[in-house]
Amino acid sequence: MIRQIEKNGVKYYYIGNRAICCMLKIAYGKAQLLHLGAPLSEDDCEALCCETVLGWEPGVLYREGDTRSCLDELPLAWSERGTGDYRETPVGLLYEGTEICPDFVWSSAGEVNAEEYDAVLPHARGAQETVKLVFTSSNRLLEGLTLELRFSLFETALVRQAVLINRSDKPLKVTKLMSACADLQGSFMVSTFDGGWIREAHIHTVPVTRSRVVNGSAGGFSSNRHNPGFLLSRPGVSDDAGEVYGFNLLWSGNHYSSVQRSSVGFTRVLQGISPDGLCLDLLPGGRIEMPEAVAAWSGHGYNGLMENMHRFVNESVIPEAWRYQERPVLYNNWEGCMFKFNEGKLLSLAKKAKKIGCELFVLDDGWFGERDNDQAGLGDYSVNRRKLPNGLEGLSKKIHDLGMQFGLWFEPEAVNPDSDCFRQHPDWVLSSPGTGPFYARNELLLDLTKPEVRDYIVESVSAILDKADIQYVKWDMNRNSPVSGNKAYEYILGLYDVLHRIFDSRPRILLESCASGGNRFDLGMLCFSPQIWASDDTDPVERLDIQNGLYYLYPQSTIGAHVSAAPHGVTLRATPMSTRSNVAFFGDFGVEFDLDSMKPVDEVELKETIAYYKQHRKTFQFGCFSRNGAEEGALCWQVSDGKETICGLFHKLISAGPEIEWLRVNGLDPDRTWHVEARSQLLRVGVYGSLLRFVTPVPLDTEGTIIRLADRHYQMRDGGFSAECSGAALQSGIPLGKRFTGTGYDASLRVQGDFQSNVFCIVPKT
Ligand code: DGJ
Repeated sequence: MIRQIEKNGVKYYYIGNRAICCMLKIAYGKAQLLHLGAPLSEDDCEALCCETVLGWEPGVLYREGDTRSCLDELPLAWSERGTGDYRETPVGLLYEGTEICPDFVWSSAGEVNAEEYDAVLPHARGAQETVKLVFTSSNRLLEGLTLELRFSLFETALVRQAVLINRSDKPLKVTKLMSACADLQGSFMVSTFDGGWIREAHIHTVPVTRSRVVNGSAGGFSSNRHNPGFLLSRPGVSDDAGEVYGFNLLWSGNHYSSVQRSSVGFTRVLQGISPDGLCLDLLPGGRIEMPEAVAAWSGHGYNGLMENMHRFVNESVIPEAWRYQERPVLYNNWEGCMFKFNEGKLLSLAKKAKKIGCELFVLDDGWFGERDNDQAGLGDYSVNRRKLPNGLEGLSKKIHDLGMQFGLWFEPEAVNPDSDCFRQHPDWVLSSPGTGPFYARNELLLDLTKPEVRDYIVESVSAILDKADIQYVKWDMNRNSPVSGNKAYEYILGLYDVLHRIFDSRPRILLESCASGGNRFDLGMLCFSPQIWASDDTDPVERLDIQNGLYYLYPQSTIGAHVSAAPHGVTLRATPMSTRSNVAFFGDFGVEFDLDSMKPVDEVELKETIAYYKQHRKTFQFGCFSRNGAEEGALCWQVSDGKETICGLFHKLISAGPEIEWLRVNGLDPDRTWHVEARSQLLRVGVYGSLLRFVTPVPLDTEGTIIRLADRHYQMRDGGFSAECSGAALQSGIPLGKRFTGTGYDASLRVQGDFQSNVFCIVPKT
């Protein structure tokens, strides 16, 4: 509900529902932020008004003689330098080369019409209500300059946005314009999701203090170094209890957010695009709309926040055609082939992929131009006939004849200097004046701010999509940008234009965004692509951290997660197939290794595994995600659709003489009886190593032919587990079966070496 309230001559705005609430007071023409967070009643507005603490010396008074007008000490929803607020400012304007204070004051409020939204920027859809608060500049030189602060209320989140409209007659430069500004009361911890290539989204948490914490990116992406999403939580918050805020941005380029506690105890939170090097023209008649900033809140710890964030993304960000639509199990040939393949090899892989249950075959990099390695071909769209003599159409037809969908990889934003595209259009390349070219992975970026470059990409990609009967596109991007500031900002607008033009008219194509893995895992891309390749690191142990970080902000359905080879290509860690699968279950499941070298036992196991995933796919992809009380050293992910609940219990390193392990399940009806069943898993004979010598009639060499042969063709069933009990017992925890501790084998024993895991399905007892 959005309401304007007048009390004792003061204007308030109440924007709230059952999940989040924001209350504003208009005082001195400024928007004071009385509250953002827990749902409160509009009747609370007067009680939430606070007074300045000191008000003077050296505080600057916004109204001469009125010590309550010291803006520096008040919680604000927007601010400008030059009005007495010395905290970090959300806006920077230059007029004739000098910083100028617009001193915006409230003028009106109204709804936001659909036509008022920028057509290129991605937007969240399906708001319950929106309001724009309109402020005009009271600076005598800037009469007519207007700031709109938009507030859109969604079922589980609040979206804010700033729009600057120059109705003055002065040409201005914008050096900074945040999407949103908020001053929140009390102590916080801030959590950011950081990393790099193959180690994305690791959570880091520090206290919010008087020193500023900045979470930003500079490489032209939203980046794997610092995801644009972050959390503010009260000290002591847990998975189930305590207050936590989540913030995010619908933007895929350089971003900036900061948190800092003020001298009177407000934490200023800014969210927006990076102001680094920014100097945008705002000419008379011009307007600049900043990306949408999201805020969600929970009083029930991280689990509550994840539920709110996930619902917001699934219902308001993901393209409508894919909302709650099950994603196919895909096979991708990249890790299995890299650039080395031909049609015969691909068809052999596709047949095996089909046999184990994959539904979509994705041909990754290397199908075009002279692309036999990463040094040539990018920018060209002619099919490599040496590898694919029947073209993409021929391959696609054969894949379809096998009963699978066909998907294709593109990296449209880049060129290799060794490409026809670059040879014909060397001037299309993005560069910073007077320097470079600077290469990354032998690539240069195309300048997406140029209309002719965008046309080339749109026409080239569209022509292939229309010709080759393609159901899925992987849109990759593999290098940091050579530019910053305006150019980097306009590049992303160019990218959005291209994505609109290619995919708006082809809503049934499933787009998976990728940027060297998760270098562009953000809400901007999710407005076009329902899922994102989370990381080139598919080692399940690494994925436990990566996916665990992403879940704070993004639902399982957005996370591409594949089973790949072991030992793993980047960590050289050997992990069981069961754990590789169990981790990939909690995302959009895929397979990505050379199936021609798949052992017969792996084939059997993967077939079973994929059948299990399909049976529970809706719950894995769209069920309500939470984490629950796993003991130290373990991690438990839970998904539930209300009817069935699935828990994944994961271990990293096992310790000898382990404690009894407990399964705890959140949120079941406590009075009902539930049936718990562990997914049946297979176990290689070889895991027992030299212990086998004590059970075989003759001592066998554990590295020898017999054991190796046994491992190829035969696997044991790992100890199963089933139980029936009340939801109350499951909430409190039930003991799991005995774990292998070096002695005494029986069929019910659970073999829990390093990197082992189990998945349990819990349904009502019939
Ligand atoms: C980087 C991606 O993350 C990989 O999955 C793969 O598509 C390669 N690019 C191909 O060059």
